[in-house]
This record gives sequence, structure tokens and C-alpha cells, in this order.
Amino acid sequence: MSIKIAPSILSADFANLQRDIERIATADYVHVDVMDGLFVPNISIGIPVVKSIRPVTGLPLDVHLMIDRPVRYVEQFCDAGADIVTCHVEADSRENILEALSRIHVKGKRAGVVLKPGTSATAVLPFINQVEMILVMTVEPGFGGQKFMADQMKKLGAVRGLIDTMNPQCELEVDGGIDPDTAPAAIEAGANVLVAGSAVYGAENIAARIEALRGA
Ligand code: DX5
Ligand code: ZN
Repeated sequence: MSIKIAPSILSADFANLQRDIERIATADYVHVDVMDGLFVPNISIGIPVVKSIRPVTGLPLDVHLMIDRPVRYVEQFCDAGADIVTCHVEADSRENILEALSRIHVKGKRAGVVLKPGTSATAVLPFINQVEMILVMTVEPGFGGQKFMADQMKKLGAVRGLIDTMNPQCELEVDGGIDPDTAPAAIEAGANVLVAGSAVYGAENIAARIEALRGA
């Protein structure tokens, strides 16, 4: 399986965002971490920034919504230029998360769900036939630069098993503490999209680091 790399611009220099997005031109997706200070204890960027970066890259924008009740905002993120919008299953009722996924699809975009470390693999079951991506967190969402939680690999493998039987086209993304040392375990457990913030933007040679993460 070919591995895709989604650098997180949370680790970019926000005063030089266009430059830092151009620096990841060899990646597959631009991962955009949206935080509201409620669902997670941090605030990052939102709709206007997605709109501003849309014209500066041809890469798909992979927007990770760490916000409470995302159904309120998914359409605005789609209109701003998001290509993939992922919502945490913990952020609202099952019914409202399904509604958020449906609104993303009506906009013609790819939809996904995200699991925090404490959430079990089976939490994807109500959504698995309605998504193009599942994201398994390997840190508590909220901050870049945290340590990879290797104890999530069992769950990652379980989600891979569910995808293979129920929705084989669905992508499996992993996010948090991914670097050239931890990426192989995530790939082995079945991830095909790797998010990396500090490992990409902290590298001397960003293009080489992206290739290293792919296992090239
Ligand atoms: C954490 C974010 C991640 C984060 C990853 O809440 O969802 O995308 O930016 O950063 P690293 O790769 O530094 O763990
Ligand atoms: Zn993220």
C-alpha cells in the first residue's frame, strides 16, 4: 500500500504560512488542525485561514476539526476550500455526527471521523459506511510535539480490520508523535496516511524527511 504524508501546519510558522506550505510540496495532503478551546484545551486556526491557504497549494486540505458540535461549521469549512473534513466521534451525539458527515458529502467533499486515544475501535461502527477517512489519534488532541502512544497500535489494527471488511476504500490516518522512528509501527498496524507536524517542520531537509516517513 502506498503511504501518504499529511504534514500538520500546526508546526509551521503562521507568519510565513505560504512559504511553509510551499516547503511541503512533495507531501500528499496539508493537515489543518482546528481547535476551539472547548473540545480541546487550545485554540488554533479556523475558517479564514483555510480560505487564505486554499489558493496557495494544489494539495488537498485535510481539515481535522477538534471542535465541539462540528455540525455547526462543517459547511463553512467546505466552502472555505477543505477537501477532507474529519469530526471527532466524541464531539456530539451519533445523530449529529452523521448529520455533519452528510452535510460534508452534500458539499461534494470527503468526510471522516476521528477517535481520541480513550475511544474504542468499535466507536467507528455507526459511521464506517459514511466516511472516506478514519483518523486514529496517537496523542491526546490539542498540542503538537507530544509523545507517540504506542498502546494505540492494537486499536489501529482493529480499525484496519473493520475497514477491510466493511469499507475497503476508506483511508486510515494516524496523528500524533509520528516521526521516522514511530511511523513503521503505524504503517505495520495498517495506517496509510501519516500526519506529522514537528517531525516535518523540525527537519533540516523537509523533502527528505517526508520521504523518510513514507519508508522510502
Ligand atoms: C494534535 C494535532 C496533530 C499535531 C501533530 O492535536 O491533531 O495534528 O499537530 O503534531 P506532532 O506530529 O508534532 O505530534
Ligand atoms: Zn491533527
